[in-house]
Amino acid sequence: GNKNVQAKLVLLGDMGAGKTSLVLRFVKGQFLEYQESTIGAAFFTQVLSLNQVTIKFDIWDTAGQERYHSLAPMYYRGAAAAVVVYDITSMDSFVRAKKWVQELQRQGNPNLIMFLAGNKADLAEKRKVGFEDGEQFAKENGMVFLETSAKTAQNVNELFYEIAKKLAKA
Ligand code: GTP
Repeated sequence: GNKNVQAKLVLLGDMGAGKTSLVLRFVKGQFLEYQESTIGAAFFTQVLSLNQVTIKFDIWDTAGQERYHSLAPMYYRGAAAAVVVYDITSMDSFVRAKKWVQELQRQGNPNLIMFLAGNKADLAEKRKVGFEDGEQFAKENGMVFLETSAKTAQNVNELFYEIAKKLAKA
């Protein structure tokens, strides 16, 4: 028979890495060149069907600005999956992503399924973080890794399908 899964998903990462843009690409199929910075957090829902399983995502898109850091546990607590996002054109954002992963390992749900997204893959000429660096870090931490572009839609549906697949199995 059919199975329905409701899953809380949280996106974390440096300001400007593209969290909101990835969610808007997935939920609405849209991209804004001048996406405003998130204040506090934003909530979205989306449904994905995989074979016999329907996944309803409750998505918390957190604000990357440091002043909102203390709010993050409210959003990752109880989450089934987390996507840590960095910008491939910013080494600082990659360092920040590593810190998020550490925080989730220490304070997140022990069964949390973690994904790493190296976003803005369309800006290859400005790349500062190698594909291998992201891949290696993800491997060391048992995360699924994808390079994405909210702008071109590269790997965005794939990312959410990977999450759905893992959640359907969990
Ligand atoms: P905060 O809300 O401040 O935490 O930022 P965020 O991580 O949600 O980033 P946001 O989605 O607001 O994107 C920041 C800027 O980067 C916006 O101007 C987006 O248009 C741009 N951007 C996001 N994703 C991409 C991408 O894949 N490629 C390119 N070229 N630009 C992107």
